[in-house]
Amino acid sequence: MTSNGTMEGKVCLVTGANKGLGKEVTLALAGMGATVVMVCRDHGRGRAALEEIKATTDSESLNLLVADMLSQQDIRRMAAEFRFKYTRLDVLVNNAGTRFGNWELTPDGHESTFALNHLSSFLLTSLLLDLLKTSAPSRIITTGSSTYRRAAINFDDIMPNQQNYDEATAYDQSKLAQVLFTFELARRLQGTGVTVNCADPGAVDTDIGVAGGPAFRERWRQRTPILVTPQEGARTAIHAASAPEMATVTGAYLENMAVTEAAPQSLDEEVATRLWNLSEELTEER
Ligand SMILES: NC(=O)c1ccc[n+]([C@@H]2O[C@H](COP(=O)([O-])OP(=O)(O)OC[C@H]3O[C@@H](n4cnc5c(N)ncnc54)[C@H](OP(=O)(O)O)[C@@H]3O)[C@@H](O)[C@H]2O)c1
Repeated sequence: MTSNGTMEGKVCLVTGANKGLGKEVTLALAGMGATVVMVCRDHGRGRAALEEIKATTDSESLNLLVADMLSQQDIRRMAAEFRFKYTRLDVLVNNAGTRFGNWELTPDGHESTFALNHLSSFLLTSLLLDLLKTSAPSRIITTGSSTYRRAAINFDDIMPNQQNYDEATAYDQSKLAQVLFTFELARRLQGTGVTVNCADPGAVDTDIGVAGGPAFRERWRQRTPILVTPQEGARTAIHAASAPEMATVTGAYLENMAVTEAAPQSLDEEVATRLWNLSEELTEER
C-alpha cells in the first residue's frame, strides 16, 4: 500500500494500537501518510504490530511507546516521552479498553474497568491538551460502545468494591463515563479548533470477545455471525480522525460514519461536571 498523503505532516497517537480496532486505525492513518505513535502495553506485541503495519504501508513514520494504561505513573511517563519526541499532536485516539471478568484494582487503587476505559483517557488527554491546542485544528476521538445507552452513572458505586462487582454494569458505566467526558470536553474546547467525538465501532470481532467472564464470552461467541471485521469497525474512528468533512464536527456520537442521536444520560451536563471533578481528583490533574 502506498500512502495517499492526505494526512502527511500530521502526528497521531493511538492507544491500544497493537491489535483490534486500534491496529486498524493505525494502519489507515499510516497509510494516509501520517506519523503514528502507537501506545501499547507490551513492547514485543507492539513491535510486532508496528513491523506488520510498516510492511503493509511502507510507512517510515511509525513509532512505539510502551505504557500500561492501568497505571497513572506509566501514562505520565509515556506522555512525557511523547512530548520529548514531538512538538505537535494533531489526532489523539483514546482507544485502549476492555472488559474485566473479575474485580481488579489498579496500582493506583482504582477499579480497573473505570480506570482503563475512562480515567486513562481523561489523564492522557489532560497531559497532552496543550499540544492539541497549539496544533489546532486537531481532533480527539474516543472509542465508544453502544452499551453506554443502557447505563447510568452511580456516583455512590462508580468504582464498585469486590462484593458489588458486576462486569456488565461496570463496563457499560465506564463507557457512559467516556461519552460524558467526550461531550464535556467538546463544550470546554469550543472555539479552540480542537474537536472531540466518540466513534462507536458496532459489534466487532476482536479479542474483546475473549476478555470478560465466561457468560460474556459465551454470549459473544453466539453473536459471531453478526460481528463485523475490525477493518469495518474501525471505519468510523478513521473517518472522525481524517475526513475533511469532520473538521468542524464536535461533541458528536458517531455510528457508521455518521452523527447519531446521543442517549439522554450522556447529555446531562450536571452529571458530566460532577464526573469531570471526580476524574480530576482521581488523576490529580487540575
Ligand atoms: N469489539 C467491539 O465490539 C467493541 C464495541 C464497542 C467498543 N469497543 C471498544 O473498542 C476499544 C478497542 O477494543 P477492541 O475491540 O479492539 O479489543 P482488543 O482487540 O482486545 O484491543 C484492545 C486494545 O487495548 C489494549 N489494552 C488493554 N488493556 C490495556 C492496558 N492496560 N494498557 C494499554 N493497553 C491496553 C490491548 O492491548 P493488549 O494486546 O496488550 O491487551 C489492545 O491493544 C475498547 O475501548 C472497547 O471498549 C469495542
